Amino acid sequence: MPVPSGLSPVASLAPAATKNVVTNTALVAAGSLVAGVAYATMIERNAFVVREVTMPVLTPGSAPLRVLHLSDFHMRPQQRHKQAWLRDLSRWDPDLVVNTGDNLSHPKAVPSVVQAMGDLLSVPGLFVFGSNDYFGPKPKNPTSYLFNPSKRLTGEPLPWQDLRAAFTERGWLDMTHTKREIEVKGQLVSVAGVDDPHLTRDRYDTIAGPANRAANLTLGLTHAPYVRVLDRFAADGYQLVMAGHTHGGQLRLPGYGALVTNCDLDPSRARGASRWGSEMQLHVSAGIGTSPYAPYRFCCRPEATLLTLVAAPTGGGHVGSRADVSHPAVSAR
Ligand SMILES: [Fe+2]
Repeated sequence: MPVPSGLSPVASLAPAATKNVVTNTALVAAGSLVAGVAYATMIERNAFVVREVTMPVLTPGSAPLRVLHLSDFHMRPQQRHKQAWLRDLSRWDPDLVVNTGDNLSHPKAVPSVVQAMGDLLSVPGLFVFGSNDYFGPKPKNPTSYLFNPSKRLTGEPLPWQDLRAAFTERGWLDMTHTKREIEVKGQLVSVAGVDDPHLTRDRYDTIAGPANRAANLTLGLTHAPYVRVLDRFAADGYQLVMAGHTHGGQLRLPGYGALVTNCDLDPSRARGASRWGSEMQLHVSAGIGTSPYAPYRFCCRPEATLLTLVAAPTGGGHVGSRADVSHPAVSAR
């Protein structure tokens, strides 16, 4: 075919080729986005895992304690897979269960939570509530978790009193603005908790005072790990604070981690164990559920955590080497 004068064959084909490249790139990007959203909402959100962490926080000379940390179920009655997975957790045989709140996402979900806890309710348990025990979720833009994370939208009141009654009837202790000393496996645990700081319901002054240094474990509980609460527990000499709320960031970038914590905690602490101050350790659960209006997880599997607390060499310690070990017997379910 003759080429018009003044126009080379390459130049005549370039616009069409460029258009094809742009079109193909856009299709690949759109396809990747659709696949990523499908994975995050349908697969990873239901890929429950038990993470094992060893933390040397106990008073020197103490025997190990196995603590199962549960948080952020955001339960709805139809979530049978989640409920079956939770029922199976008793096989891990913990010495103590700690539930850091956000159990509910539906006004009729209390029986589902109680039945899912099953045999764990026969194990000594401690709990504090979060905003999603008191109030139901409200429709919102699914991206608001990332771009407007701290905006609080609370829906209809939830029957937290019924959940509290069911837990306490089985012997679990509501640690909301309460200090208690309990014996777990022959060891003294001195524990205190606050109401949810995310709803500004925390009144630390009601539990303020030095932690009992004679205890094998001094433990602080809060649903949301706001800095003001962590600083108060640290100043009072607590060895360990356990919290939930962050959902681990929900969307984590590979090689980078969480972008948000939905509170004033640094995103690098969005899940797992970290040191707070010179002596205290913090453990934040990535949680087990999500809001029904932000139903996705990416690089942030829903988790329960089995903490093996062991004696610190000198009254405080570093996070153990078994962090982030999942157990396929449960995680595969
Ligand atoms: Fe939550």
